[in-house]
Amino acid sequence: MIVTVDTALQRLNRGELVAIPTETVYGLAAKATEAQAIENVFATKGRPSTHPLIVHLPNLEAIHEWAIDIPESAYTLANAFWPGPLTLVLPKHPQVLSSITAHKPTIALRIPNHPLTLALLNKLNSAVVAPSANRYGQISPTTAQHVENAFDDIAVLDGGPCTLGIESTIVQLTDKPLLLRQGSLTLSTLTNVLGSPLDVPTEIVNMPGSDRHHYAPKKPLYLLEQDALLTMLKTRKNVSVISFLPKQHDILDWVQAPNTAFEYAQKLYSLLHELDKTASDCILVEKPPVREPWLAILDRLERAAQ
Ligand code: TXA
Ligand code: MG
Repeated sequence: MIVTVDTALQRLNRGELVAIPTETVYGLAAKATEAQAIENVFATKGRPSTHPLIVHLPNLEAIHEWAIDIPESAYTLANAFWPGPLTLVLPKHPQVLSSITAHKPTIALRIPNHPLTLALLNKLNSAVVAPSANRYGQISPTTAQHVENAFDDIAVLDGGPCTLGIESTIVQLTDKPLLLRQGSLTLSTLTNVLGSPLDVPTEIVNMPGSDRHHYAPKKPLYLLEQDALLTMLKTRKNVSVISFLPKQHDILDWVQAPNTAFEYAQKLYSLLHELDKTASDCILVEKPPVREPWLAILDRLERAAQ
């Protein structure tokens, strides 16, 4: 059910959930001061309670209500990129409900850049938790329709297709700056603004919410180098393909991939949602370049793959 900003506001204030648009993906929002609503977010998504949520703020001043011991680097990044696709992990304010942070001492915060959601947050005069509005482990939503397909009877504030299409970049600032999740803001952009390098864990293990298998379609997805993909196509035709090569007509579904990372990211989840519904047996994806600005796309494809 599509709702207006005012209806969304009333629902949030009553402790109900509303799916909200952001520039990255749609979020499943609950007022961040409502313990029961937060529990419903976990239950509705089927998300383990050990996976902390991101709190979405209306403005930078609100940061003090959610975090403490805020380092200068947080203001540097926030001033440069908020509202926008950057989540900062900071020491948690003691008054914040510990279910939000999965009882961790840190909290993830961002200001999303979407006019409807900013209007909603300003009217709410509080913050919302908003994990991506998909069931746990499935493909993230980038349209209101994706959200409606995933959940029955969900209220959705329809802000059109998301402009960036993949989740925010996450940077932890509790010690030396650490890149926890690749996103559309690249490491080199962040490094330039910070004026110092960030640590990038080579293998992100045991990071809640960063399971190896995530963002996955229901049918198998194989991420392949171009040669391996072409070899596979000699024997398999009933497949969906996302490749940088032009369409091959004997293949069931063929999508020629956008050649800019910006456009690829914008379309990625929509394509996966679409190809998941066709009659093909599996989805074969040509591996994108292993360099910026493709790394966030590569990360999501690797997690979606078998
Ligand atoms: O772009 C986005 O960030 C979207 C939109 C809706 O804002 N939200 C999103 O939320 O992607 P979700 O719940 O799907 O992903 C949250 C990520 C998880 O990887 C989680 O582990 C991480 O944020 N996270 C949350 N709190 C954290 C914390 N205290 N320390 C480390 N990671 C944290
Ligand atoms: Mg998610």
